[in-house]
Amino acid sequence: MVSTINQPYTTLSNGIEMPLLGLGVYDMHGAEAEQAVQDALETGYRLFDTASLYENENEIGNALRNSNIARADVFVTTKLGNVDHGYDATLRAFEKSLEKLQMDYVDLYLIHWPVKGQRKESWKALEKLYNDKRVKAIGVANYLVEFLDELESYAFIIPMLNQVEFTPWLFQGELLQYCQNRNIQLQSYSPLTRGLKLGDPRLIALAEKYDRSPAQIVLRWNIEHGISTIPKSVSKKRLQENFGSLNFKLTADDVAFMDTFNENFRICDNPMEML
Ligand SMILES: NC(=O)c1ccc[n+]([C@@H]2O[C@H](COP(=O)([O-])OP(=O)(O)OC[C@H]3O[C@@H](n4cnc5c(N)ncnc54)[C@H](OP(=O)(O)O)[C@@H]3O)[C@@H](O)[C@H]2O)c1
Repeated sequence: MVSTINQPYTTLSNGIEMPLLGLGVYDMHGAEAEQAVQDALETGYRLFDTASLYENENEIGNALRNSNIARADVFVTTKLGNVDHGYDATLRAFEKSLEKLQMDYVDLYLIHWPVKGQRKESWKALEKLYNDKRVKAIGVANYLVEFLDELESYAFIIPMLNQVEFTPWLFQGELLQYCQNRNIQLQSYSPLTRGLKLGDPRLIALAEKYDRSPAQIVLRWNIEHGISTIPKSVSKKRLQENFGSLNFKLTADDVAFMDTFNENFRICDNPMEML
């Protein structure tokens, strides 16, 4: 993947390159979603994270197709819906996603949620899609250490990426270490806690110290850890603000300080209930 935009990329375990910062497109639809993708492309974003659950693959595909950016220069992730688990159902769901996106491959296909009793067969289907070269990389989402251990017992291919909720207020050090040891790229979702923790006085103090916004400090904290992150915004101003997290640094001490904010705070369900 070639980009003229100066931004950090990570190399997945199979050699595929992916931008560290991307746009999450949950909860945007129609013209608003198409405009957000267009604004993001203009800002420099090259990674887009959708899912069949978000019901906007069509719009995301339209916006990317109508842009002047080559398909090879964007990285598109989509995900298997919870209702589509199982070997054959997964293969069918993948074709449906491709059709909606109007693409002949996706860069990354993820299992959205470790659905009890079905995740093994679904992973086997993802391995087939990968071996058949229908996707550049495969991975999982919401897989805690227990789920990754289980997957390792039957997988021929170790996921290239694990997308989980991960913030200073949900600092999962053991999971981060586990993924780093196995060369599984960690990617954080809901990195801005949907705004709920952006008023934390410790974060505000850091924002003042670096003359940056609270959102930029949190996103930069991810980048300093080597964690890919996918904040969502439909506002061009915020898209630019979030992209601005790429052009400054935090000290190691401040990163370590933010690691101590942990209070097991979650926006989304705890995947542990699927064990
Ligand atoms: N795998 C999974 O199970 C899973 C679960 C949840 C999310 N995700 C992915 O992760 C992406 C991001 O997570 P999320 O959408 O839940 O939450 P988020 O990115 O933490 O927060 C998005 C919210 O914050 C606002 N915002 C954006 N930039 C801001 C800024 N600079 N300052 C203040 N507020 C700002 C947005 O409003 P505006 O749009 O008005 O700017 C929106 O309301 C999703 O879009 C999705 O792609 C995956």
